[in-house]
Amino acid sequence: MDILSVIEAKKRGKALSREEIAYFVRGAADGTLPDYQLASLLMAIRLNGMDARETADLTMEMAASGEMLSPDVGGVPVDKHSTGGVGDTTTLVLAPLVAACGGKVLKMSGRGLGHTGGTIDKLESIEGMRVELPEQEFVEIVKKVGCAVVGQSAHLAPADKRLYALRDVTGTVDSVPLIASSILSKKFASGAKAIVLDVKTGSGALMPTLESSIALAKAMVDIGHHAGRRITAVVSGMEEPLGSHVGNALEVKEAIDVLAGRAKGPLLDTALFLGALMLESSGVAKTREEGMEKMKAALHSGAGLQKLREMIAAQGGDARVCDDVSLLPKAPVIVPLRAREAGWLQKEDCTALGLAAQRMGAGRVKKSDVIDPAVGFVMEKRIGDRVEKGDVLCTLHARTEESASTAGDAVLAALTFSPAPAPKARLLYALVTPGCVADLDM
Ligand code: URA
Ligand code: CA
Repeated sequence: MDILSVIEAKKRGKALSREEIAYFVRGAADGTLPDYQLASLLMAIRLNGMDARETADLTMEMAASGEMLSPDVGGVPVDKHSTGGVGDTTTLVLAPLVAACGGKVLKMSGRGLGHTGGTIDKLESIEGMRVELPEQEFVEIVKKVGCAVVGQSAHLAPADKRLYALRDVTGTVDSVPLIASSILSKKFASGAKAIVLDVKTGSGALMPTLESSIALAKAMVDIGHHAGRRITAVVSGMEEPLGSHVGNALEVKEAIDVLAGRAKGPLLDTALFLGALMLESSGVAKTREEGMEKMKAALHSGAGLQKLREMIAAQGGDARVCDDVSLLPKAPVIVPLRAREAGWLQKEDCTALGLAAQRMGAGRVKKSDVIDPAVGFVMEKRIGDRVEKGDVLCTLHARTEESASTAGDAVLAALTFSPAPAPKARLLYALVTPGCVADLDM
């Protein structure tokens, strides 16, 4: 087999055989195929697509390109994965709650990517927290505590690592087969048996239209189902930051506030819903409704916050943050951003908000950049809220006055006000299970 004939076949819109897919995935993982030929093939796939069988074959070959774990965690290993959001710290809320209900959450998370935040970067704002753990220690913590959150091991799905880095710089990220195989190959390799996917849609999402988000959710659910995983996907709105806090330490603070019962709203609602699905798919609850009851009980009893303390301590972090959020890094410049006009907050460019936080130092512009854990902002208004001139729209947490001023301008530019009342943004759109797409209205 040679790579030119594989590129040629996909360029002409033909379906690739399992052997052809295995061949280029192997060449990506072991470095025998050069970047330019892989990039050319990726663009052919981006333009001509892949059918369901090809996408499933690509997923399985990428999963098998490195180690395949099958950890004994004392229960069904369950994982949740989001396609990337802004102010979305669902993992830090639901992992401890699911663990408190008896679930075994085996969570490998990413770092921030583009305008989206990453759970691993957020956790590192806690003093002492270790996010790179040897596999055995990771598995032991999941077994004992019920949840652990670590970075993606370099030994898992190395083909995806290579292809993802190429996609990032060749305009080939936004492809259903490439995203689906990228996400699921890593989940399969990590040994997750039950998987809940949170596919974002809207101005802050990878896939901006509802149709393309549902197509991505369906593709992933089909692959997972055929691979023998219990898999469910939720399509959820990303028209505005999910929680009110955007930034690493700020989002950890918000997760703690939610678990302590001090904060409510869309972040909590989404975490409860996804957590209930995790309990159902891992067999801890018989139905989603029973899962929801268990999640709420774990929240109200404080058992969820207790699990977060245990998880932080087990990973070497200072668990006192759970009782004293003032121990988290704090920015030196904290200033309000006020509305210059009255009206209803109608629309947000959520990607622009994520980029504003990134430029303040909450994310990386270059791969080698070091994250500033303290910076970001707290939105005080949501889409649909009435705003008077002079109202505080958001509170900026910046390293310098200049950074606060630049970020303030960017946030203002990302908000659209209307003279007439505007509806709230939708939170949940659809629940996708094997063979079924059900409407959700929340
Ligand atoms: N997250 C991934 O891991 N891969 C993608 O392709 C997109 C989001
Ligand atoms: Ca504006």
